Amino acid sequence: MPAKIICGKEIAQEIRAELRPEVEKLKARGVTPGLAVVLVGGDPASQVYVRMKGRACEETGMLSETVRLPETTSEDELLATVDRLNGDPKIHGMIVQLPVPSHIDANKVLRRIDPRKDVDGFHLENVGKVAIGDDSGFAPATPAGVQQMLLRSGVETSGAHAVIVGRSNIVGRPMASLLLQKGNGGDATVTVCHSRTKNIGDVTRSADILIVAIGRAQFVTGDMVRPGAVVIDVGVNRVDDPSTDKGYKLVGDVDFDAASEVASAITPVPGGVGPMTVAMLLYNTVQAAQRWAAT
Ligand code: GUN
Repeated sequence: MPAKIICGKEIAQEIRAELRPEVEKLKARGVTPGLAVVLVGGDPASQVYVRMKGRACEETGMLSETVRLPETTSEDELLATVDRLNGDPKIHGMIVQLPVPSHIDANKVLRRIDPRKDVDGFHLENVGKVAIGDDSGFAPATPAGVQQMLLRSGVETSGAHAVIVGRSNIVGRPMASLLLQKGNGGDATVTVCHSRTKNIGDVTRSADILIVAIGRAQFVTGDMVRPGAVVIDVGVNRVDDPSTDKGYKLVGDVDFDAASEVASAITPVPGGVGPMTVAMLLYNTVQAAQRWAAT
C-alpha cells in the first residue's frame, strides 16, 4: 500500500492559523511582533526563501523588515546591521539568511545576534539550551517543524528508533537534540548518520523514523527504507528537467516514488518540510514578542 502523505503545507497552515489570535492579543497590548530577515548577496534560492518568510509574516499580521545587502558587504558592515536590529524595539526576531559570502565569518555574525531575538536558534546560548532541553531557548525552525509534523500526524516518537541522515548545525544536530528530549515529540532512540557512515543502508533500514537532510538529490533509495517506516525528507534540490518551463524541478534527498512504496508515511518535496520551516520561524518570533512583552 502506498505511503500516507504527511502534508507539511496543511500542518503549516494550521500552525499559522493558531498564531493569528496570539498576534492579535499582542497587538491589543501595543506590541506587533516584528521579524527582520537579513540577506547578503543574490543567492537565488535564498532570495526565494527570504521573500516567502517576509510574505508569511505579513499574512500573519506581523511586521516584516527585509534587509538586502550587496555581495560585497564587509563583515563589519553586517555586524553593524545586526547591532542596529538588536537595538530596534520594533524587531523581536532576527535571522541572517545562510549561506553568507565566504569572506564573512558566519559564526561570528550568528553570535552577535541578541539570543532573545535569535529566532533561528543558531546562537550558542540557544544551541546549548536546546541541547540540554531548556525550553526557554529557541529551537531551529526546520527541526522544530519536523517534530511538529510527527506530533500532529500522530507518529509515536517515544521508544522509536529515529535515524537522522545529515549532521548539519541547521538540521541534523538540533534534530537529534529535540528527539532525545524527555516528553512529547521526544524520548526517541537517536542515531545520526553522515557522509562517512559505513554501510549507511544498514543503519537507515533500522529506522522507525527516517529523517533525511544531507543535501544530495534522491540520496535515499527505496531499498534503504524499512517497510512501514515514517520518512521525513528535508532536502530541496534543483535537478535539470527540460520538460518544465524553468528547465529544472525540485526533488528531495529521498527517491520519493520508490520510498513511498515501502514507507507507511512520507513527506513530499515541495510541500513537505519547507512550509513548516516558515511556520516555525513565525512561531518563534511570536514567542520572542510574547517574552519581550512580559518583561
Ligand atoms: N539557510 C537554509 N536554512 C536556513 C535557516 O533555517 N535559517 C537561515 N538563517 N538560513 C538558512
